[in-house]
Amino acid sequence: MYSKKVMDHFRNPRNMGEIPDADGVGTVGNPVCGDLMSVHIKVKDGRINDIKFKTFGCGAAVATSSMVTELAKGKTLEEAEKIGRSDVADSLGGLPKVKMHCSNLAADALHAAIEDYRKKKKAER
Ligand code: FES
Repeated sequence: MYSKKVMDHFRNPRNMGEIPDADGVGTVGNPVCGDLMSVHIKVKDGRINDIKFKTFGCGAAVATSSMVTELAKGKTLEEAEKIGRSDVADSLGGLPKVKMHCSNLAADALHAAIEDYRKKKKAER
């Protein structure tokens, strides 16, 4: 049912945890399954220098958030903003239909973290 890549990211999640002095934090939840995901980013020279995730979710949520951190690390904010919901699932070799929302959650949390960063930046000015 799950691709090898999904299982790999589920068993060995990359970039799990929090960044205490994060520049941006995005937390999103899915009202249907009740799962929660948050992404912390550290930004340097317009790039995502460090990224970590935390999830209270299913196995697919762990795998998709792990993948989204790998996709976004080192990217400029503009590039990371373009990482869409289906990119996460595609990079994992696909997801079962009923689990697509888990990958949406991961992309949404990343975008929310970038938005949070931009808002904070504006407030500083
Ligand atoms: Fe809700 Fe996977 S079942 S995030």
